[in-house]
Amino acid sequence: MSSIPVIAIDGPSASGKGTVAERVATALGFHFLDSGALYRLTALSAMKQGAALDDEARVAELAVTLPATFRGGAIWLGDENVTDAIRAEAVGEGASKVASLPAVRAALLDRQRAYRQVPGLVADGRDMGTVVFADAVAKIFLTASAEARAERRYKQLIEKGNSASLPSLVADMQARDARDTARAVAPLKPAPDALLLDTTHMDIESAVQAVLAHYRNNCK
Ligand code: DC
Repeated sequence: MSSIPVIAIDGPSASGKGTVAERVATALGFHFLDSGALYRLTALSAMKQGAALDDEARVAELAVTLPATFRGGAIWLGDENVTDAIRAEAVGEGASKVASLPAVRAALLDRQRAYRQVPGLVADGRDMGTVVFADAVAKIFLTASAEARAERRYKQLIEKGNSASLPSLVADMQARDARDTARAVAPLKPAPDALLLDTTHMDIESAVQAVLAHYRNNCK
């Protein structure tokens, strides 16, 4: 067991956990792990190499050797800046598929745990509090209704000049939740000792303050 504190923030896609986790990390001067990005990078790498997303052994091998680096807000796969590419809906779909493969999850475990460095880590994902950092000092499960999350994603897409359909985003969101929740290995579910935070009617700043308060209450 490590004495380096970890704040685990889990929840479904577009719940706002990425933004909340990053702001909490900045407020505390902690490191930040976007574990979903590792699954997205694995999927992108498999897609680029023409590997079938259900070829467990091959995708796990790619995950182990993933030449991923996070530098100054940008994400690199080898010498290619893939910061935007990994956010494409198709890559998110692919990430959800490869994330259901036990060998891929196992392949990414050590890599995720390596982010636990002084003075502390804020880890964002689906199984941070249940599996990867089960001894986290503070665990938060951030949710929002599928409709609220689809609406947030819709606004992001429109702001970036993409076209989007709200009903199909709600349907995608529900399908991805179902897959992430039903998978046999590390399903999306709150740790028994997690604080549940429903952000359907909450802004980002209030969520950040709630997480910081929970951490301060737990670490004393
Ligand atoms: O958080 P995100 O949308 O970037 O995650 C992409 C996919 O990766 C998502 O479908 C769930 C999966 N994932 C996971 O299974 N475990 C994690 N710790 C993080 C993400």
